Amino acid sequence: MQIATQERIIRPAKNILGSLRLPGDKSISHRYGMMAAFAEGTSRFSNFSTGADCASTLACMEALGARVSRQEDGVIEIIGVGGRVTPTENALDCGNSGSTMRMISGLLAAQEGRFTLTGDASLSRRPMERIRKPLEAMGARLTLAEGHAPILIKGGPLRAIDYTTPVPSAQVKTCLLLAGLQTAGTTTVRERVRTRDHSELALRAFGATVERTLDSVSIAGPQTLRAIEAVVPGDLSSAAFFLCAAAIFEGSSLVIDGLGLNPTRAALLDVLTALGAHIAVLELEEKSSELVGTVQITLPPEGLRSTEISGALSAQLIDELPVLAAIGPYTSGGIRIRDAKELRVKESDRIALVARNLRAMGAEVEEFEDGLDVPGGQKLHGATIDAGGDHRIAMAFSIAALRAEGETLIQGAESAAISFPEFFDLLDRVADR
Ligand code: S3P
Repeated sequence: MQIATQERIIRPAKNILGSLRLPGDKSISHRYGMMAAFAEGTSRFSNFSTGADCASTLACMEALGARVSRQEDGVIEIIGVGGRVTPTENALDCGNSGSTMRMISGLLAAQEGRFTLTGDASLSRRPMERIRKPLEAMGARLTLAEGHAPILIKGGPLRAIDYTTPVPSAQVKTCLLLAGLQTAGTTTVRERVRTRDHSELALRAFGATVERTLDSVSIAGPQTLRAIEAVVPGDLSSAAFFLCAAAIFEGSSLVIDGLGLNPTRAALLDVLTALGAHIAVLELEEKSSELVGTVQITLPPEGLRSTEISGALSAQLIDELPVLAAIGPYTSGGIRIRDAKELRVKESDRIALVARNLRAMGAEVEEFEDGLDVPGGQKLHGATIDAGGDHRIAMAFSIAALRAEGETLIQGAESAAISFPEFFDLLDRVADR
């Protein structure tokens, strides 16, 4: 999808006030969309992600024979292929979405036929060896272009493996579980850091049996998936922008309801609490095995303190690190991030872009191969921000801009629509100017 480049001016705010409900979680929507399209029967989802990334997943699955329609009430209806996709000569376009490309590769590796996966310029730079190695160990053939997309998959019956992921990655784990689902024997994925477990929960919701230990997930194949109906919880990684915005103003009070609070995703709430924000979880319930609740954030007069994010926490918070770094100057003691080298191979080199854009706003920041030191007690000024085509950079610096002196121009603001098309409208709604 080609979207024209847009600029957005962000004016400073006095406060963040109000209540929000957010569009469906991107990670869960990818999984529900992909599994429903592969399952037997007709699934229905409300509050499905409105982001372009999840639209890429649905478009790929449609090209493989699933039928997808959006009802008048916004519900997405998906008629699955019942475990066998229709091979297509056409390339499957994954757009900007690493989740689509890596997860669908596992699904297709076990299907008879040849498949080609392509992506945009950013996705075509991202590492794909991490899926090629284990899928080839299972018996599939993957041809990459120097470790990157386009990916050519020659799929067919696979053999089960026991694999330890060298880099913690929920996408790679899911890729192997979707291959294992279709493979005789037990496929086990071991990880040193427990990554988000939406795939394990979704596979169970779709009727599959998945075994878990503290550091491993196993699936005994072949198994079939059966259609479900579900409400997708609000996206906590999207909420992160508003929670961080609220955290930088003393008089803020923000409530977000219907929010996904899966413990493998909720580390941000602990970090904001450690920084000094007051977080209250007002309601909590379980829906399709996912925890959903209402979160309220307020900030005491002392403001934010300091924190260090390293080790396993960096992997668990990987998508929230850009916005945490961007508010670092507004803390009293700064934010230190380490063990986050993966940030360099996301939709952009997020360490370099965060450092460059913080400096453009007048901040002092030290860049490391695996992280950043952002000293606290700094004043920022409005500047021109280069989002580098990266949705999370565009949104992170829109938040930093709220407490800067003067206006900030976000170049490449359209990239927010990759995960969160409603971002700027909702920001206008809660930013008290
Ligand atoms: C995701 C996993 C993470 C995350 C990405 C979504 C997922 O990527 O950064 O935004 O839905 O599984 P990795 O698996 O590369 O860590």
